[in-house]
Amino acid sequence: MIKEIIAQEINTERFINEKVEEIKRAVGDGMAINALSGGVDSSAVTMLGHRALGKRLKTVFIENGLMREGESEQVAGFFQKLGVTVEVVDASKEFFSALKGIVDPEEKREAITQTFYRNVFGRMVKESGAKYLLQGTILTDVDETVAGVKRQHNVFEQLGIDPLETFGYRIIEPLIQLRKDGVRKIGKALGLPAELFERIPFPGPALAARVIGVVTPERIETVRKATVIVERLLKSTGSFQYMAILHEDRVTGMRDGMRDFGQQIEVRCWDSVDARTATPTQLSFEILKTLASQIIRDVPGIVSVTYNITPKPPSTIEAI
Ligand code: XMP
Repeated sequence: MIKEIIAQEINTERFINEKVEEIKRAVGDGMAINALSGGVDSSAVTMLGHRALGKRLKTVFIENGLMREGESEQVAGFFQKLGVTVEVVDASKEFFSALKGIVDPEEKREAITQTFYRNVFGRMVKESGAKYLLQGTILTDVDETVAGVKRQHNVFEQLGIDPLETFGYRIIEPLIQLRKDGVRKIGKALGLPAELFERIPFPGPALAARVIGVVTPERIETVRKATVIVERLLKSTGSFQYMAILHEDRVTGMRDGMRDFGQQIEVRCWDSVDARTATPTQLSFEILKTLASQIIRDVPGIVSVTYNITPKPPSTIEAI
């Protein structure tokens, strides 16, 4: 049973000091690797790890081909300014080949997990001699996985999986007692810029969690283009999270006066504190119309844009 630390009760300095000590003790004079995606969780872990280990922590950004536009450059740039060197590792071909032909959501998540932990990190850990992987699993990830809602890509021990036995390295999870609001406080106290600690959540399986049906480079590119528009137009709402989802079903539309049996994008925009429950933001019809017209104008193949009005539960935040 993990003991939750709620955001209102966190003593940020004490938490940071304790975690830095725990990481130092665990890793000793060895090496560790950490996977940075640029989300608030992995950004906070990167800062904790660097405080604890300095140059003995190797920080990598895995380019899995499923990230948002310009994400690797942006994240590496942010951390450069913080004095942390980020190595970008291109593994996109591996991810697309693992996802090939899979439509079942849990099978997709499993394919991503195996590619991350067994193939990409397994290889990197072997090459670098590191014995530890530091990662930003939070309590909500564990809860949803254990409850059987969704297999979060980064949860093992609570499912009875021993990472050392399965992948050949140990995993350290300094944020496992926190939820998103708590991590934001820690991130701020660690000196992350607001652009990072206020970033909207983005899931480990990345844009693959937002493509219903098969995941191909082309379909990811479609949802990526729609994501740019959704994030640009909804940033000023201050909502907890917003996203574009590419549907599998096609609908008849028309373009240039001709029939176009096209694709559909669903927009979701959530009000939430900790992602456990969420309600759709009451967007104005003006914003909804702008979203539709820009998505249809700029994303090839889209003939329909919808807005989700279902709360979580029974919806979940991501679509798969
Ligand atoms: P759901 O879709 O389960 O999402 O309502 C709850 C929150 O968790 C994020 N999410 C994930 N984060 N690995 C993660 O690190 C995952 O596999 C994953 N799946 C969902 C989601 O974006 C939301 O903020």
